[in-house]
Amino acid sequence: MRRARIVGFGSYLPARRLSNDELAGRIDTSDEWIRQRTGIRARHIAAEGETTSMIATRAAEAALAHAGLKPADIDLIVLATATPDYTFPAVATQVQANLGITHGAAFDLAAVCSGFVFALATAEKFVVSGSARRALVIGAETFSRILDWEDRTTCVLFGDGGGAVVIEGYEAAGTRADQGILTTHLRSDGRHREKLYVDGGPSSTMTTGHLRMEGREVFKHAVGMITDVIVDAFAATGYSAETIDWFVPHQANQRIITASAEKLGIAPEKVVLTVGEHGNTSAASIPLALDTAVKDGRIRPGHVVLIEAMGGGFTWGSALFRV
Ligand code: ACO
Repeated sequence: MRRARIVGFGSYLPARRLSNDELAGRIDTSDEWIRQRTGIRARHIAAEGETTSMIATRAAEAALAHAGLKPADIDLIVLATATPDYTFPAVATQVQANLGITHGAAFDLAAVCSGFVFALATAEKFVVSGSARRALVIGAETFSRILDWEDRTTCVLFGDGGGAVVIEGYEAAGTRADQGILTTHLRSDGRHREKLYVDGGPSSTMTTGHLRMEGREVFKHAVGMITDVIVDAFAATGYSAETIDWFVPHQANQRIITASAEKLGIAPEKVVLTVGEHGNTSAASIPLALDTAVKDGRIRPGHVVLIEAMGGGFTWGSALFRV
């Protein structure tokens, strides 16, 4: 059977690092409060004029270099973001142009923090069906631009950044020992809109709006939703908390991650945590964490990796793959 395998990982963080202490100088918060509740120590913030498409392009270039491929080898770009440069055109087409690609297709996908899992699952379908040979799957955000910097309950949580992977189709044996994406599970439930949303948009207010969140409500739902799609991934593949090598969750909050891993019986040493230095970078957080663990030598060829995310909508999902 045809499968999609990941052949390159890349990421990019804006140079500017904003620490908790620095934030505490501007609003009524403290390093201790932020660390205790979220595990976040710092986040990166895009420079003036540095847009989501610029960040995405840098991440894509890094993933292509890691794969040893040229832009011309790519015939599909699926980009997840909730913070596009403009209402249209899609950020993906800006990245396509920046890379000098003039064939194939490029489009954006909106699933907020779950965006990378949704984008990976979507691109996989194109690659497995033969509609595309190789795809760039990108998560990139400039959440700093939609934060209300006066609202301490949200602005301390998020950061900017981008991550990307290159996937390509190949003929696999069709067993769980195969390299590549072995299963994906996507879910959404629009009834939860009010718990996490942006209070503006082109067809409602004609403004960009700011992120609003009922943090406690999100927290309450997160662990259950995350564990549901992970149980689905285990059931579909026969892998388990014991037999996966790495758990790379969406980096929203260390407490959510730890609680989910504990509930599933995933050992703490298998959990890749980058939220401390990145904050919550929404769709960028998983590919940023994947790239971090690939480049520091933790994730190696042959390893089985489980990713999951949950975010605005609500949307949530998981994917399980062998590198
Ligand atoms: N600094 C200091 N005090 C603060 C801050 C802050 N930055 N923010 C809130 N507080 C205060 C509140 O005003 C409140 O004070 P009060 O008791 O006098 O009213 C107190 O701290 C407790 O506030 P809570 O909101 O109840 O704090 P909680 O323990 O729930 O922690 C948090 C808040 C960290 C947002 C938590 O609810 C959470 O992690 N939720 C998950 C949300 C999340 O991660 N969302 C990411 C997007 S969705 C996703 O990616 C999955």
